Amino acid sequence: MTQKSKTSYAALKRSVYREYSRSYDEDRGQFVSGAALMQRIDWALETLRPGGSLLDLGCGTGQLLRQAADRTQGKGLLAGLDLTPHMLRLARAELGCGVNLLEGNAATGLPFKEKSFDVVTSLNLVQELPADAVPSLFDAVYRLLRPGGVFRAVVPCMAEKNQAAEMFRRMAQIRGQMDFRYADELEESLLGVPGFVEKCTEFCPSTAATNAAKSNVRFKLFAGILNDIKNEGLDPNQVQQGVIFFSGRRGADD
Ligand SMILES: C[S@@+](CC[C@H](N)C(=O)[O-])C[C@H]1O[C@@H](n2cnc3c(N)ncnc32)[C@H](O)[C@@H]1O
Repeated sequence: MTQKSKTSYAALKRSVYREYSRSYDEDRGQFVSGAALMQRIDWALETLRPGGSLLDLGCGTGQLLRQAADRTQGKGLLAGLDLTPHMLRLARAELGCGVNLLEGNAATGLPFKEKSFDVVTSLNLVQELPADAVPSLFDAVYRLLRPGGVFRAVVPCMAEKNQAAEMFRRMAQIRGQMDFRYADELEESLLGVPGFVEKCTEFCPSTAATNAAKSNVRFKLFAGILNDIKNEGLDPNQVQQGVIFFSGRRGADD
């Protein structure tokens, strides 16, 4: 990315998430059930123990960090990074001062010392990044992990190719620079990142887009995309999404 495109990327994302921060948890409750969200968070935190250290990238309103704080019981180091001050404000209100929350752009580097964390997580962030920034993010995460440390990411993607799905992808890119890749291509590229050992991915279908099409979502970007699809004479219920669960570990001797 050039300096100019970095600045306009960050400005667009901040403006999208400033608006989304007004209804984020409420809208998300309509996309993804509470049980499905907890399952994703539990999986991401599986290896976190009291006394452990964790960094959550794109921490949003702080729901994963809230669960992490419960697990570490005040013994450990918890940190969150997010690009949008309005999301961080909500996270601060949720988490108080026991968690280190930082504003930063994960597409341009991670401002932490090498080998600082036992666990790095990211829930619904990777699709926010330009595709060419993802390998360098994974490389930066690898360097932040302690030997034996684990990176767990949940990445929304497209499950099935059709005209409505293509329209969804195009409008998400135009309206929010969001890059929802098809599951097979995304899995291949995540498994291809160098460094990690015990790399694995798993695909699960998600109801996010079809639930959004049925419900009264306040977030203007998604409501706008669903209207774009309808205005083309297509059916938003045809947009099938999924999530990829990515897990990788830093070698114990590295
Ligand atoms: C879809 S939300 C996910 C929030 C949270 N992880 C969750 O699952 O509820 C994406 C979050 O990533 C943040 N974000 C977007 N682009 C980012 C970037 N380049 N670096 C850091 N955070 C970013 C947004 O501000 C937003 O809070």
